[in-house]
Amino acid sequence: MPENFVHTSYPSRVVFGAGSLEQVAAEIELLGVRRALLIATGSAHQAANVVEAALKERFAGRIDGVRQHVPTEVAEAARTKAREVEADGVVAIGGGSAIGLAKAIALTADVQILAVPTTYAGSEMTPVWGETSGGSKTTGTDLRVLPKTVVYDAELTLQLPLNVTAASVANALAHCVEAVWTEKANPITETTAVEAARALADGLLKVLREPTDADARGELLFGACLAGTALASAGTGIHHKLCHLLGGTYNLPHAETHAAVLPQVARAKAPEVPQAKRRLEEALHTDDLATGLFELFEAAKVPTSLQTLGLTREQAKEAAERFPGDVDDILTRAWAGTRPEGAPR
Ligand SMILES: NC(=O)c1ccc[n+]([C@@H]2O[C@H](COP(=O)([O-])OP(=O)(O)OC[C@H]3O[C@@H](n4cnc5c(N)ncnc54)[C@H](O)[C@@H]3O)[C@@H](O)[C@H]2O)c1
Repeated sequence: MPENFVHTSYPSRVVFGAGSLEQVAAEIELLGVRRALLIATGSAHQAANVVEAALKERFAGRIDGVRQHVPTEVAEAARTKAREVEADGVVAIGGGSAIGLAKAIALTADVQILAVPTTYAGSEMTPVWGETSGGSKTTGTDLRVLPKTVVYDAELTLQLPLNVTAASVANALAHCVEAVWTEKANPITETTAVEAARALADGLLKVLREPTDADARGELLFGACLAGTALASAGTGIHHKLCHLLGGTYNLPHAETHAAVLPQVARAKAPEVPQAKRRLEEALHTDDLATGLFELFEAAKVPTSLQTLGLTREQAKEAAERFPGDVDDILTRAWAGTRPEGAPR
């Protein structure tokens, strides 16, 4: 029997399946949205055209193209646009950046979000928002930004480039690994995280062999859904906080930063939660979590060092000083991309 625990789950509706993009208009109607603002990442142009046509008189306007980490000026422009078109709903098609922009609108206006994720970042399942201003990223949790409906359609992800796919999977795996040791971690988040990790690792290996394998792409989206669910309830810890500091301050690519940092954080932290560590190792088919993650990212050709992402040694040292907690060793290793062999067990 599990030990006593407290768990909070979040209310959202998930519509999952290849071809489900065509259900977006009906889902918007079900939400009672009268005027939907469409936000689409660059690659989702065609999908946005389809949704725009299907929304008919409920289509209120469109924002094409988004930027990573939701810069304040981009958020402000989107809020202005939402006010101008009197939107009471936002349909966001894209990765964490498109969904993040929808969340920025929902934070200050009464709009309902329908998210159509096309990466594996998992933001669509969380009430977490983020905004970047003057080189520093602010994040917060607010139920108003949680998408009411999430439509997962693997067909939209078939052309996601392998490098973006792999980095995005690393981001989702970071949610899974961190979800087992945060203060709010519990048997429900742990089980969700373990199954998410299994789907993500298996799906990634299949997609590396056959990038347009629709079933494997569906497996990855399912993993992303579970990973986001685990993140939403377990919250964030040292890993996400460190990645947000690095991403916001040095403008590093979000998902790749997770890939470089995660094996080193797992090496340091996972031994504190031996049972969850073993479960994650079984899901990832490895006998050491940190090494298994590192080797999976290597196999997928995701950069495993912050140095490769353009961070200087001095910046890594500066980040370690700015971080509230001792991350010297983690950042030294993540900067150099040191193999995690010899991890404390
Ligand atoms: N709030 C949360 O819970 C949460 C969770 C994870 C990530 N995030 C945020 O999300 C952002 C990163 O999201 P991301 O990693 O999804 O990156 P992203 O949304 O910036 O997308 C990465 C790139 O992939 C392209 N792309 C997306 N889908 C595609 C597709 N299907 N086919 C081809 N190209 C496609 C995009 O145009 C972009 O160039 C960060 O700002 C991060 O902080 C938030």
